Amino acid sequence: MDKFQIVGGKALSGEVVISGAKNAALPILLGTMLTSEDVVLSNVPQLRDVQTCFKLLTMMGKSYECIGENTYKISGKVTSNVAPYDLVKTMRASILALGPLTAFMGSAEVSLPGGCAIGARPVDLHVKGLKEMGAEFVLEDGYIRSSTESIGGRLHGGYIVMDKISVTGTENLMMAAALAEGTTIIENAAREPEIVDLAVFLRSMGANIVGDGSDKITIVGVDKLHGCSHSIVADRIETGTYLIAAMASHGQVVCRNALPETLDPVLAKLRKANATIEVDGTSIYLDMRDREILPVDIITAPHPGFPTDMQAQFMVLNALASGSSTVTETIFENRFMHVPELIRMGAHLSIQGNTVLCSGVEHLKGAQVMATDLRASASLVIAGLVAEGTTVVDRIYHMDRGYEHIERKIRSLGGTIERISA
Ligand code: EPZ
Repeated sequence: MDKFQIVGGKALSGEVVISGAKNAALPILLGTMLTSEDVVLSNVPQLRDVQTCFKLLTMMGKSYECIGENTYKISGKVTSNVAPYDLVKTMRASILALGPLTAFMGSAEVSLPGGCAIGARPVDLHVKGLKEMGAEFVLEDGYIRSSTESIGGRLHGGYIVMDKISVTGTENLMMAAALAEGTTIIENAAREPEIVDLAVFLRSMGANIVGDGSDKITIVGVDKLHGCSHSIVADRIETGTYLIAAMASHGQVVCRNALPETLDPVLAKLRKANATIEVDGTSIYLDMRDREILPVDIITAPHPGFPTDMQAQFMVLNALASGSSTVTETIFENRFMHVPELIRMGAHLSIQGNTVLCSGVEHLKGAQVMATDLRASASLVIAGLVAEGTTVVDRIYHMDRGYEHIERKIRSLGGTIERISA
């Protein structure tokens, strides 16, 4: 398994170009199954999860061609409606095939994604919503099998109240409703920017969707969706990760091709932690030279709250702040696996239920640490970049799932990082 060897202690400084958002690319790629016409997607990040999506699409009968840097043409008609376990187990987001396949093919067979390091990750809300649209389900042999046979082979509109706010749950239902007969209303919908980007993509295919970005989305189904071109929205979590890396190192960074308005909750907290931040169009400037890190209490929440995907990274800031703070995780039940690793690097953290009490230290010390999930690995890389001495982060395949060209970007900021293939 690959590792990163990082020599810390240097103030990061420079410019980084932000890639397309993983969590927008995945639903949009699977959403191409809603049409047999050509779709051209640009600003697609080169990530392991994106490659897994392409594998899944080809298994369904689609074909894809790289027609330029980060630009792909996806064509062909879906001929299979089975998303197999051996692919789904590597990428939970494969559950996003359920909505499009049930809508386009009338039935689907998707392996239950199972849990992952950060939690049980159930999909009951996806199933419940599709049932409101007339789908029937059988759960057996670890597969979710949907069918619309009893309603004539096509989903109908429904009034869906999400019991909990679910990002991919909202996305699956939006995609299914786009081809359903009649109107679907999703109440208590997720409001993440990636939901809006998916809605923009679906509208460019001819879907009739309003309310995306709010907690009530209305979709009037159409008979057919056509091909389109779409550029994937910038990755707000990647942006926040590099902003925090520069901040924790008391350096400075310019993030280009970013979408600042998708980062309001994060920028507000970084300013509270004493960063100087300027926004100019699609560029974000952060300066933390000669400034102390102030402790800031964080509570994760669905957008527009503070994103859970930034919790592990922000904890490194609080670990180095001039005082005490708390970090509370409200979305996932097991998203503190970076904490024991940060403690091994000298952080003073203690877990009390779903809150971590942080009391800042002068500096962290390099150590051998292990990544357990995508964002925990990001937090350990940041910690390694600012710690005294050398840090080796193991199992960095987690990182490759969500951060494009990570070594190149860190080196462009002056960081010392090497990938060691074990
Ligand atoms: C999406 O996951 C993101 N993944 C996650 O990013 C992100 O952390 C999460 O949303 C929250 O923002 C993608 O978009 C591919 P949820 P998702 O459904 O949709 C519970 C990363 O690091 N729930 O919004 O799976 C669930 O257990 C990843 O990029 C149900 O109970 O998350 C959780 O407690 C990690 N039943 C809460 O809702 C369901 O049917 C929110 O989960 C679905 C979810």
